[in-house]
Amino acid sequence: MSSIEALTAKLNQLGLEEVKVKEILKNKKVSTAFEAILTEATVPLEYPLEKQKRLLLHQTAILSKGDDIPKRSLVVDGILKGDLKTATQVDEAFKYVKSRADDSNVQEMNDVSGVGVVVTDEDVKKEVLNYIEENKDEITTKRYQSFPKVMAEIRTIPALKWANATSFKPIIDAELLALLGPKDERDVVKKEKKAKKPAGDAKGSKKEEPVKTRSMFAEGFLGELHKVGENPQAYPELMVEHLKATKGQVHTRFPPEPNGFLHIGHSKAIMVNFGFAKYHNGVCYLRYDDTNPEAEEDIYFKSILKMVKWLGFTPWKITYSSDYFDKLYELAEDLINRDHGYVCKCTSEQIRAGRGIKEDGTPGGERVACVHRSQSIEENLKEFRKMRDGAYKPGEAILRMKMDLSSPNPQFWDLIAYRVLDAPHPRTGDKWKIYPTYDFTHCLVDSFENITHSLCTTEFYLSRASYEWLCDALHVYRPAQREYGRLNITGTIMSKRKIAKLVNDKYVRGWDDPRLFTLEGIKRRGVPPGAILNFVNTLGVTTSTTNIQVVRYESSVRKYLEDTVPRLMLILDPVEVEIDNLDEDFEELLDIPYKPGNDKFGSRKVPFVKRIFIDRSDFTEDDSDSSFFRLKPTQPVGLLKVPFNISFKSVEKDASGNVTKIHVNYDKDITKKPKTYIQWVPKSEKHNSPIKVSETRIYNQLFNSENPSAHPDGFLADINANSEEIYKNSVVEPALNEVIKRSPWDVEDASAKEFNIVEDKDVSGPEIVRFQALRVGYFALDKDTTDDKVVLNRIVSLKESTSK
Ligand SMILES: *[C@@H]1O[C@H](CO)[C@@H](O)[C@H](O)[C@H]1NC(C)=O
Ligand SMILES: *[C@@H]1O[C@H](CO)[C@@H](O)[C@H](O)[C@H]1NC(C)=O
Ligand SMILES: *[C@@H]1O[C@H](CO)[C@@H](O)[C@H](O)[C@H]1NC(C)=O
Ligand SMILES: *[C@@H]1O[C@H](CO)[C@@H](O)[C@H](O)[C@H]1NC(C)=O
Ligand SMILES: *[C@@H]1O[C@H](CO)[C@@H](O)[C@H](O)[C@H]1NC(C)=O
Repeated sequence: MSSIEALTAKLNQLGLEEVKVKEILKNKKVSTAFEAILTEATVPLEYPLEKQKRLLLHQTAILSKGDDIPKRSLVVDGILKGDLKTATQVDEAFKYVKSRADDSNVQEMNDVSGVGVVVTDEDVKKEVLNYIEENKDEITTKRYQSFPKVMAEIRTIPALKWANATSFKPIIDAELLALLGPKDERDVVKKEKKAKKPAGDAKGSKKEEPVKTRSMFAEGFLGELHKVGENPQAYPELMVEHLKATKGQVHTRFPPEPNGFLHIGHSKAIMVNFGFAKYHNGVCYLRYDDTNPEAEEDIYFKSILKMVKWLGFTPWKITYSSDYFDKLYELAEDLINRDHGYVCKCTSEQIRAGRGIKEDGTPGGERVACVHRSQSIEENLKEFRKMRDGAYKPGEAILRMKMDLSSPNPQFWDLIAYRVLDAPHPRTGDKWKIYPTYDFTHCLVDSFENITHSLCTTEFYLSRASYEWLCDALHVYRPAQREYGRLNITGTIMSKRKIAKLVNDKYVRGWDDPRLFTLEGIKRRGVPPGAILNFVNTLGVTTSTTNIQVVRYESSVRKYLEDTVPRLMLILDPVEVEIDNLDEDFEELLDIPYKPGNDKFGSRKVPFVKRIFIDRSDFTEDDSDSSFFRLKPTQPVGLLKVPFNISFKSVEKDASGNVTKIHVNYDKDITKKPKTYIQWVPKSEKHNSPIKVSETRIYNQLFNSENPSAHPDGFLADINANSEEIYKNSVVEPALNEVIKRSPWDVEDASAKEFNIVEDKDVSGPEIVRFQALRVGYFALDKDTTDDKVVLNRIVSLKESTSK
């Protein structure tokens, strides 16, 4: 055997991975050193050797650099004995033996390399807290962007020199979270801006790089998920079949229960499941989890599909849990035959007591098996078939899984698999009297559909164990359930029951009221689907709940609209202005771009004529108000895009003293810049201007507080009385018609396309007509719009604080 072959065999025996072995053999110095190290050891080698020890020996070989190190065996033995545990310790020990050569001794080596020094996680936490306290200002300003620096500096703290550095990150993460709260958009936007810079690089030497949007699929929770085929199986042969069926493609599913409307939280679930599959060229099912016939309604089935499509996703297949009722029933009998299922006739109180749940509802009492648990398989089969055949009424008998009552995990306390329900099913009609539970159905249908990544939110964390238990008990392919943190918008409510209350008691216009955070409401309000995708992407996916304030969400939507919609002039509360020194037929066609600075949007002609409308609030008769910068008797004002100022001459009023018309002068040929420009809309029959808006609905937050449900008098008491303001006389320039015709503007959704996850866009509704009304806000057409009636919704204001 050549020495290379001998070394290879030895390294393999020690348990080094194929790639590591190759890497070592490629480098002559390292392989020679490794060979020597193995003969130097006086402590017996173990086969295989622990991973950490292998790594540290490898490190020693690399440090040796082909030099002759007389007392290296001290280091090698230290590693093998487990005295030198970390890379830092080996570094220090090596430095010592290298410099002291033959004078080295174990005691000194151990002293300089911190052998025996114990630094607990508590010690680490103390130092981290100290550090954070000392650098609080910087950390609260830079927020999570300070993480790399914090991490680097914590590493250099002398007291932590011998700590296990693996524990730093989780501890720092936890303390930053406690200080800063969950990550939000402040923690990510900066990167994009930086990436843009090279484009404008004057030297032009660098190639123009496309602006990279960070992708939630490439990093964080989703970036770290297993590859197809890597999810462990109790019966590995099942994986072979699974890979044949899936051809190694990612398979995910979005499994809503069709018993309500989706809300903003679901947009994350939709994007996580459909997007993750698309990102990996895989497929995603839309699966209606319809195992609870009592709550299901056709309208929910339809709405769910509509919303998935609205967000831009196309299900690979649409399935229903009820498609598998026959197969599930067979497996239930199979479970019984494997002695893992029994029919239980206990009352729900008895079941609770058996699970150790005390009278006050807290767990922790003694858990005991009921009499039914020890029934024979034959007895259970007979009883289960009686359940199926309608011999029992709801509550009289259930099928339970025989799990492990001694487990601390409540998901092992003999979960219910089937229950009797007296309800016809929307899809299977009267066929079944018994229906499988979520716990029984979900994992098995995931298995039938060969799901590779069963992604759900963290409240299902404890279910992971029972999910795997059932797949294994029935000897079927076991998909991998993984849990991410849900998205929670604060300052509103998501609960089905509470929204129903708002709808039924007419606090809002319906389930699609633009003030609600149902997806139907968000869509109706005019929020573009791309803005939602962008928002979710920006937040990223982690295992903790993301709590976001409504204002943060809105600012993300605003940012998206700023880049994607045309601009028009709209007057919310108009008053007529007559320009006395212009002729009746005066007309100057102004060419005004739909979006200054972006040619792709094009422009429109706006006629500047003798009569125009301005907003009532842009004029005051009170000359003494020095903080008023718009039109006053003594103060002229500019009109957007019009060359010269107008200045006040007189007003006309009605009997009640209200201003009905303002007379002004056009200050032609005086070329000093005005202080302020205001929006205006021409009044001209010839140009069909203005377009009258029947209703302009201005939305404010539906609730006053950040946590409506915490209101002592109930969430209804927290409703903002001004959540909807309606203007009935608004006017808008005639170019609205062109904006309607051209919608959706092809410049829209540009950023959503960057994730490359959206295939089809739903462009059918009135809300795709979106524009920025200069100085007023972002608007979209409401579904109440008809051929002769325009209704607008304000999507968001222009600035965070504007409540006008
Ligand atoms: C360091 O901590 C990690 C995580 O707590 C642990 O897996 C690892 O074994 C520890 N290493 C040593 C050398 O104690
Ligand atoms: C899932 O994979 C199995 C093989 O493990 C195959 O028999 C079955 O047809 C697949 N199911 C679907 C819905 O593709
Ligand atoms: C979601 O936000 C509400 C406040 O609106 C809060 O009470 C609740 O605890 C949050 N949920 C989670 C899981 O963080
Ligand atoms: C005059 O203006 C006030 C306040 O804007 C309004 O409430 C009132 O109805 C107006 N009167 C008439 C006659 O339009
Ligand atoms: C236009 O109006 C502003 C006040 O809004 C004034 O400061 C400015 O001097 C005016 N310009 C001309 C040319 O009158």
